[in-house]
Amino acid sequence: MRKKLIAGNWKMFKKIGEAQSLIKEIAQGAGDLGGVELLVCPPYTALNAASEARKGTQIKVGAQDLHWEEQGAFTGKISWDMIRDTGAEYVIIGHSEQRTYFHETDDTVNKKTKTALKGGLIPVICVGETLAERDGNRTMDVVSTQTKKAFEGITKEDATKCVIAYEPVWAIGTGRNATPEQAQEVHAGIRALIQSLYDASVAEGMRILYGGSMKPDNAKSLLTQKDIDGGLIGGASLKADSFLAIARAGL
Ligand code: PGA
Repeated sequence: MRKKLIAGNWKMFKKIGEAQSLIKEIAQGAGDLGGVELLVCPPYTALNAASEARKGTQIKVGAQDLHWEEQGAFTGKISWDMIRDTGAEYVIIGHSEQRTYFHETDDTVNKKTKTALKGGLIPVICVGETLAERDGNRTMDVVSTQTKKAFEGITKEDATKCVIAYEPVWAIGTGRNATPEQAQEVHAGIRALIQSLYDASVAEGMRILYGGSMKPDNAKSLLTQKDIDGGLIGGASLKADSFLAIARAGL
């Protein structure tokens, strides 16, 4: 059985004090949530404070990106080593906002995934199609290519450590989520692809999250789909009550 992972992508929200308060609130309300794994991904500036605030709780902390080099003249960038140094254990890679606004490519996603794994961070690799791609019946092509490239050169042992997040670009921050059936179909396709790249045990163990306007009122119908193993949640992760309600739907 795959334990559900409910992950909050805080994007460019929450200063240090706000991050600490939100983690405290989530921890206070999470008493009945031992059956799911909780992860929050604050901005870099709050990573260390978040890692301190989570101590003694079940909440894990992750970054939202990393650079593939360990150190050097890369103004504005952060390495795996620096992320580990804050106490964070996960890292989101290849989010569609990175792909759209900051020149993320399948190749940089692959490099970042390799670096994260080498550095002992758990990658949460994001894939997903645009609306034009969905309308052109290219969803599975696009998502397969992104997934295949992300895992290029990654060993079976390392692959078992990864998490995938399927996030249809047209559903992110739009209030328009994929239907549970639409999401399930893609998740099953990704799992089949992982099986063909590795084997059935890697595929069965791989957690594939859904992301894109997941909210308390649609979480249950998504999280009860066979191949949906959790959520990567943006807007609704910024408040403890909605994040906890989604997590509870995953029990
Ligand atoms: P959303 O964002 O829940 O606000 O749609 C999801 C994401 O971008 O990870």
